[in-house]
Amino acid sequence: MTDRQKLQNPQNPLWGGRFAAGPDAVMEAINASVDFDQRLAAQDIAGSQAHCRMLMAQGIVSEADGQAILEGLDQVAAEIADGSFDFKRELEDVHLNIEARLREIIGPAAGRLHTARSRNDQVATDLRLWVRQACDGMEDALVGLQSALVERAEQHADTLMPGFTHLQTAQPVTFGHHMMAYFEMFGRDRGRLADCRRRLNECPLGAGALAGTSFAIDRDMTAHELGFAKPAANSMDAVSDRDFALEYLAALALVAVHLSRLGEEIVLWASPQFAFVTLPDALSTGSSIMPQKKNPDAAELTRAKAGRVIGALTGLLVTLKGLPLTYSKDLQEDKEPVFDASDSVALGLTAMTGMVAEMTVNEGPMAVAAGTGFSTATDLADWLVQNVDMPFREAHEVTGRIVRLAEDQGVTLDQLALEDLQTVAPALTKEVYAVLDPARALAGRSSAGGTAPERVREAVEVARRILADQAQ
Ligand code: ARG
Repeated sequence: MTDRQKLQNPQNPLWGGRFAAGPDAVMEAINASVDFDQRLAAQDIAGSQAHCRMLMAQGIVSEADGQAILEGLDQVAAEIADGSFDFKRELEDVHLNIEARLREIIGPAAGRLHTARSRNDQVATDLRLWVRQACDGMEDALVGLQSALVERAEQHADTLMPGFTHLQTAQPVTFGHHMMAYFEMFGRDRGRLADCRRRLNECPLGAGALAGTSFAIDRDMTAHELGFAKPAANSMDAVSDRDFALEYLAALALVAVHLSRLGEEIVLWASPQFAFVTLPDALSTGSSIMPQKKNPDAAELTRAKAGRVIGALTGLLVTLKGLPLTYSKDLQEDKEPVFDASDSVALGLTAMTGMVAEMTVNEGPMAVAAGTGFSTATDLADWLVQNVDMPFREAHEVTGRIVRLAEDQGVTLDQLALEDLQTVAPALTKEVYAVLDPARALAGRSSAGGTAPERVREAVEVARRILADQAQ
C-alpha cells in the first residue's frame, strides 16, 4: 500500500478543530493504535473515573456532569466486557474511542472529562496500571511453577540422576536437587518483578501534556484512588518515562531465559537417548509422517519464545534511546512489545508448569545413567584424601589412572577388582567400594546446598515455608 488513497473520513472529531481536511489512508494506518491498545480499556476507564471523581471533589466539574460521566463510563466498560463495543480505527486509539462513545451516551458533558488531562499523562497512567497488574499475574504464575517444582523435588529427593557439566556426566545428583535449582531461578525472577512493581507505582496523572496544569487538581487523590503510592514527581518525566516498561521486559526476558533452559532440558530428557522423563500426552504432539513420534513441541516453543521476549526488550530499548523529552509518538510503540512479551511468558509459564507437574520421571534410566561416565571418580579421589591422607592433586592423578584402567577393561569403577585398584594405589581397601556406588556417593554430598537427599528435603521444607509466608 504505497499510494496515498484518500479516505472518506471527516476530520477527527476529538482533535480535528485546526484541520481543514481528514487524514490520508496511510496516516490513519501508521497512526492508529486501537487494534492493540484496546487492551488498555479497563485501565483507561479506571483512570478516567478516578480523574473525574477528583475533578468533582475539586469543584472543577459539577456533580451532575461528573455523575453522568461516571455512569456513562460504567456503560462503556460493560459494552467492552460483553463484546458489543465497536472500536473504530478512524478514532485512532483506545482513549479517543472510549471518549467518543461516552459522548454518544451522555452528550456534551463528556467533553468535561478531559479537563486538566492530556492523552500523554493518560496513556502513561494506563500502561503503568496494566504493567502493574501483569506483574501480579506473573507473580501468581511463577508461584504456581515454583510449587510444582517443589512438589517434584519432594517426590524425587532420593532419585538418582547424573549431574552434568559440559553436558558430560560429572557427578551423581538427585532429580529433586535439579528441580530445586529452578526453584531458586524463578524465585529471583519474582524478586525482580516485585522491584519493578514497586518502582513503577507512581501516578503520572496530572502531569498534563508535559508541564502540569493551571487547574487546582489533587494529584494525591487520583494517585490514591488508583492504588499508586504517590504522584510522579516531575511532569516532564511522568509523560516521557517508560523505564517501568523496560524493567518489566528485562525481568520477563530473564524469566523467558530460565524457561528456555528448562525447556531445553526437558527436550533432552524426553529424547529416547536420555529417556529420563516421559512427557504427558496432553502437552505433546505427534508427527504427521512418523507414527512413533511424541514431540516436545511445548518445551521447544517455550525455548524459542525467549527470542521474542529478548527482542521486545531490545526493540523498546532502541526506541527509547535518543528520544528527546517529553512525549513523542514513538512512545506509542511501547505497547506491542509489552503485550507480546507478556503473552509469550504467560504461555511458557503455564506450559512448563504443566510439564513439570505431569511428566513421568523414569527413575530406572536415570539411575543407570548416573552410574556411567565414571561419575564417582571424584568420590574415589576424596576417599584417598580422607582415608590415606593423600594430597588432593595426587589423588586426582591416581584416580585418573584408575579411570583409564576401567575404560580399558570396559567396566565401571565399582566393577574393578580390588587387586586391579591396588596396582595403581596400594593403599586402597575394600571400604572404597562404598563411595563408588552413586547412591552412596550422593548421601556424602551433604554440605550446605548440596545434593544429599537430606539436604534436598530440607531445601524443600524451607521452600514450602517461604511460599506459605509469601501467600499471607
Ligand atoms: N495512542 C497514544 C500513545 O499510545 C496516546 C497518546 C497520544 N498523545 C499525543 N500527543 N498524540 O502514545
